[in-house]
Amino acid sequence: MCVSQWSTLCSSVVLLCLLCSSASSQSERTGFIGDEVLLPCVYSEKLSEPVSAFWRDKDDKVVLDIIDSREDKIDPKFKGRVVSFPDQYKTGNLSILIKDLRADDAGPYDCNIPKVDYHTKITLNVTEKPAVKITTPHPEPPTTRGAAVTTSKHHLSLLSAPLFVLFSSLK
Ligand SMILES: *[C@@H]1O[C@H](CO)[C@@H](O)[C@H](O)[C@H]1NC(C)=O
Ligand SMILES: *[C@@H]1O[C@H](CO)[C@@H](O)[C@H](O)[C@H]1NC(C)=O
Repeated sequence: MCVSQWSTLCSSVVLLCLLCSSASSQSERTGFIGDEVLLPCVYSEKLSEPVSAFWRDKDDKVVLDIIDSREDKIDPKFKGRVVSFPDQYKTGNLSILIKDLRADDAGPYDCNIPKVDYHTKITLNVTEKPAVKITTPHPEPPTTRGAAVTTSKHHLSLLSAPLFVLFSSLK
């Protein structure tokens, strides 16, 4: 009795782990707040026109509906911030560009091309833009790194001379 409960628990854990690992192997994109990011949705073959594709976000909001090769519905959340590339539809490229990224844009996105039964999921990670330091309080690190690179290059050229001599003498 107890054992069977444990094995049920165990198999659920295994199943969960499998789900986890498959989720983490899906494609991810990282964008910065206020920046733009390309979410790819590319079918491997050419598509006969007209093309339709449906982009949804984590809340099942309409990120973009492409119907009969035209941009159709867009949820107010994404209005004016999402563009697609009509000249590329027939090549199978139904990627979109989300502009002016917001923190709440983060999450999974679905692209569906029903005609060819193609589905893809991209998880968008939105982070703060790395701070660009204007005044560097400690300018030493980059300088020393630069010096280290120079030194190692220098060492390489110092090494190459004896090597050249060695190779020449081997001939
Ligand atoms: C799809 O189109 C976009 C916009 O032109 C482009 O940036 C991207 O590289 C294209 N992807 C492929 C696989 O062609
Ligand atoms: C988003 O990216 C940052 C920086 O690469 C990383 O630290 C963080 O764990 C990522 N978050 C998710 C949910 O993937």
